[in-house]
Amino acid sequence: MQEIQINCQLTLRPPIRQPPSDMGFPPVFGGAKEKGAAFPKPKDERLDPTVMPTTEGFFGEYGGAFLPPPLVPIIDEIKAKYLELKEDPSFWAELRLLEKHFTGRPSPILHCERLSEKVGGAQIYLKREDLNHTGAHKINHCLGEALLAKKMGKKKLIAETGAGQHGVALATAAALVGLECDIYMGEVDMAKERPNVVRMKILGANVIPATHGLKTLKEAVDSAFGAYMEDPVTQFYAIGSVVGPHPFPMMVRDFQSVVGREAKAQFKELTGGKLPDTLVACVGGGCNAIGLFTAFLGDEKVKLVGVEPSGTDLKVTGKHAATMTLGTPGTIHGFKCLLLQDEAGEPAPVNTCASGLDYPGVGPQHCYLKDIGRVKYETVTDTECVDAFMSLARDQGIIPALESAHAVAYAVKLAKTLPKTDTILVNLSGRGDKDVDYVVENFGAKYGVSVPKYEMPKAEAALASAA
Ligand SMILES: Cc1ncc(COP(=O)(O)O)c(C=O)c1O
Repeated sequence: MQEIQINCQLTLRPPIRQPPSDMGFPPVFGGAKEKGAAFPKPKDERLDPTVMPTTEGFFGEYGGAFLPPPLVPIIDEIKAKYLELKEDPSFWAELRLLEKHFTGRPSPILHCERLSEKVGGAQIYLKREDLNHTGAHKINHCLGEALLAKKMGKKKLIAETGAGQHGVALATAAALVGLECDIYMGEVDMAKERPNVVRMKILGANVIPATHGLKTLKEAVDSAFGAYMEDPVTQFYAIGSVVGPHPFPMMVRDFQSVVGREAKAQFKELTGGKLPDTLVACVGGGCNAIGLFTAFLGDEKVKLVGVEPSGTDLKVTGKHAATMTLGTPGTIHGFKCLLLQDEAGEPAPVNTCASGLDYPGVGPQHCYLKDIGRVKYETVTDTECVDAFMSLARDQGIIPALESAHAVAYAVKLAKTLPKTDTILVNLSGRGDKDVDYVVENFGAKYGVSVPKYEMPKAEAALASAA
């Protein structure tokens, strides 16, 4: 019998559920009932975000829930509760209120006039998810997941984190609603993204290092899954992207889709009713990209581009994380997707300068959108990413997260090939505070940035309490 490895300790059986037999309608998409927020109904039903996924959680051949037997009733319960809340206007009202007063939504759109002028082609706009409370788009789904967990009577939120942004956002949401929080993070990422480790601890979360394998995002997911298996009843695994077993890819997408709904209305207002010609977003698990794309899936004239890392060498396994470009169908962490894998079906090693993109799998809806040709997936190297990081800082006054800098890098390349009348809207998924030490240490010399290591002064109060 073929078996699916989740991690060294966890062995899963093949699909518990049968493949989908229908393209069943899930209930109305969260938030779509809000006044003025209805989704367009595309002619092609397969592009309708209110149709996907099937009731079994499949987007085309991808997705589903490949679970060990003890998890089946637990995940079913989460699905049932989410589907109930999805139809409950008071749940969305509560979430919208938090988005406004806690996150600071709507996030603005900025026309990067100086950068566009310098690039010399299409006009580049940014959807400023970096300005959200906690500094990235991750807070959008963390608030939703934390509310759901609280309503289910769970005691603790647990999750993986790569760049630390999902971890910080979840620790924040846990503090807001009053739940305990454990975050699993690869040891390598803990060193790279130290400021976020410090933030999570200040927020009261436990940060637990993943010390096996490459000690990055995949290993953090392995560890979080292992911990979840030990107590799935009182813990809620708040998955950090549109990945994992159904209903997580759908549910996280629903929470993130506020980004695209806002962007569509804002862009029209800015440009006298036009839509952007192209949307660009980086793709790790894929939640910021799907969050921006969802409201535009039915607008066939709007080109959609997901950008993933080609790292330092797209031709060498272990030197990139270009899942959409080079992956083949496989199963990881309870769902089917395009996967970078070896001949035995084990996830292949991945590497990129952006910890949040360092994952061998990807959200199932992205795989489907690639198959039907609705979204194009492109790659950007580490060098191009760091160039874009510095360029956005110096030519526009914004320091982006390294993940988001992948999208900026592609937008700059694309803009150069297009007329000045074209528009590109980039999802600036996060800010770069977490990355500045890593960038300066590794690439500072190339850009003339050198910062000596200063000694931390002792606080009077600390000296007094030590005495
Ligand atoms: C700022 C930022 N952008 C993008 C990502 C990638 O995740 P996703 O593809 O799910 O948006 C991360 C992940 O940590 C992130 O921190």
